[in-house]
Order: sequence, then C-alpha cells, then structure tokens
Amino acid sequence: MSSFIRPDLLTFQAYSANPQEETPIRPLDQLDTNECPYDLPTAVKQQIAETYIKQIQTNRYPDGSHAALKSEIACYVNEAAGIDSIEAANISVGNGSDELIRSVLIATSLGRPSSILVASPTFSMYGILAKTLGVNTIEIPRRESDWSIDPDRANAAIAQAQRDGQPVRAIFVVHPNSPTSNALNADEIAWLETILDETLVVIDEAYYEFSRQTLVGQLRPNWVVTRTFSKALRLAAHRVGYAVAQPEVIAIFEKIRLPYNLPSTAQAAALTALSHRQTLLTVIDEIISERDRLASAFSPLMRLRQWPSDANFLYVRGADDSLNLAQLAADLRSRGTLIRHTGGGLRISIGTPAENARTLANFQALLSGS
Ligand SMILES: Cc1ncc(COP(=O)(O)O)c(C=O)c1O
Repeated sequence: MSSFIRPDLLTFQAYSANPQEETPIRPLDQLDTNECPYDLPTAVKQQIAETYIKQIQTNRYPDGSHAALKSEIACYVNEAAGIDSIEAANISVGNGSDELIRSVLIATSLGRPSSILVASPTFSMYGILAKTLGVNTIEIPRRESDWSIDPDRANAAIAQAQRDGQPVRAIFVVHPNSPTSNALNADEIAWLETILDETLVVIDEAYYEFSRQTLVGQLRPNWVVTRTFSKALRLAAHRVGYAVAQPEVIAIFEKIRLPYNLPSTAQAAALTALSHRQTLLTVIDEIISERDRLASAFSPLMRLRQWPSDANFLYVRGADDSLNLAQLAADLRSRGTLIRHTGGGLRISIGTPAENARTLANFQALLSGS
C-alpha cells in the first residue's frame, strides 16, 4: 500500500456488525444488532414517503440546523423523563450516535496527548473510532459478578494516564451496557459525579427506551447523554442519533460536525417517528416480557451462564471454558439464528415471539444433553 496512508490503518480492523462470509442457506433471524424486531407500520412509512414527495426538494441541501428535529427531540426527552429542563439548545443531532461519539473524540482528544477510558466488555465503537483518530484507549475490566465498573480501578487508571502524559479526556459508559445489558448502579453513578471538569463523561443511553432509566435529569456541566433512533424508535436504516448536554458543550459539537450531516429524508423520518412515538413504543412491554421469558427458559441450560438484563438483549457465556462460543454462534447461524459473539460472550437480541421461540429451540437443540 502506498506510503501516504498512516501505517496504523493498514492493519486496522473496522467495525463489522454482520460479517457476511457466506450466503446463508435459509433466511436468518437477525438477532445480532439489537434493533427493534418490528419495521415501521406502513401508514407511518407512507407519511414519510408523502413528506418526501410533497415537501423535500432533492436539489436543495437539508436543513443544516436541524431546528424542527431538535425541538421535537427536546420535548420527547423531557416528556419521557418527567422533566422540563431540556431545550433545543441542549441537543445536537448526529448521523447515528456513532457520529456523536466521533464528535466527542474530536472535541476532547484529537491533536493533543489524550486517552479515553472504557470498561470492557463494552460497545466496541469507542475504541475503534478512537483508533481512527490516533487517540489512545485505556480499557479496564468490569467485575464479572454483575458487570459493574470498579470506581477504584477506574480512578487508578485515570491517575496512571495522567502520570503517563496522556490524560483521560473522556470516559464512555453505557446505560445499560452493551453487550452485558446492565444499567449503571448507584455506586457507578456516584463515581461519575466525582469526575472532574477536565474530563467529559459520556453516558450512552442507546437502549434507554428498554431500560427506562436515564440520567438526563441529572446532567452536569461535563456530562453528555447520547441516544439513538436506531433501536426502540425503529429507524436504524435512517441513521439518526442525538446528544443531550449543556448548551456550551452542544455548541462545540455543532461547530465540528459536517454542515449537512443528516439527510432531509432522515430528518423527516425522525420527526414522523417522534410524532407516532406512543404507538411505536407500545411494543416495548412485549419485548421486555419476551426477554424475561427467554431468560427464564435459558436458566435450565446448565452449560450457559447468564446475567439479568436491563435492555432488549441477553448476554450469556459458557458456564465453564468447555463451551466453544464461536462454534456455538456458527452452529446457531447455520440453524437460522444470527446472534453476536462479542466481548467473550454471546449477545442475543430479543426478536418477535416467533423468532425468540426459534432462538430457544436452537439453543436447546445444540446444548441438549447438558
Ligand atoms: C451502546 C451503543 N451505542 C451506540 C450505538 C450506535 O447507534 P447508532 O445506530 O445511533 O449509531 C449502538 C449500536 O448498536 C450501541 O449499541
């Protein structure tokens, strides 16, 4: 490869949600990316299509200020959290929340000695995006008992980074975490409250609608909450995410994003989805009860170890090292169940009741005799 490319990118492994090595022999139940299993209702899609046909001029750039969308998002955030403190000035919109993660890295770390802190296993994009920007990632392990973060260990890593001349500029936590599915506990939140102003705390609430737990009501000057339309709001295809923070932090994100980062169709889809949020979110109860049903049905599978979930997915590991999880994931795939082997375990998205029944039957068939 030509020498104009940064050498570290030559061996760099990009994020690949759905490695498509071979053509599946049968249609797969897509339970590997934690989306809502239901498409938008046709009437809602039709409304988006009408907006496209009647209002969107394809020869014109999108609204680069996202003004209408920001104020609707602010209403939604307030309404769902039972607060009234969030305004459009507290919101920045991204091309997926992935874009906002990159904005955090640019705003805090790019171009100066820096590190970010993550607690593994966790969402891999923080480390991947940091790497593309040449930002150092410090990983501390979570406690295996409940996947919580040990504040002492985190503080020690922060102090060490300071001594090494690569201070931690941003801490990324997920509430609830992916892949391990646990929401932040009171000790972790108390620890985040002690983080000093020189470090930005990113609380990724991608699965908020499933956990129904949020920290938007307790925003501090050095906190940002990120969320997405890709999960409960069923718009993964449109790539819409948002950040909630103090206006001063938001103003920086607005400066560094691309001017037209969100296509007009994506803005229309997000506005339409928000206007139908009550309907769209009615399936959350079903997904949660399906999750609990699947979790109980997994318990007798002696070869699996599992943890309680606050999200729309389950995380399991082998009860001991004898279970080959990569092989199990491959065998499930050949039976039509696509899940994600990540972070040393298996992450299983909750699907429709029919998909979940097939997931369970496939696990039982592969682990029978145990
Ligand atoms: C924890 C977490 N954050 C962010 C994202 C990315 O969301 P988006 O589709 O908005 O980029 C995901 C996607 O799986 C996720 O699991």
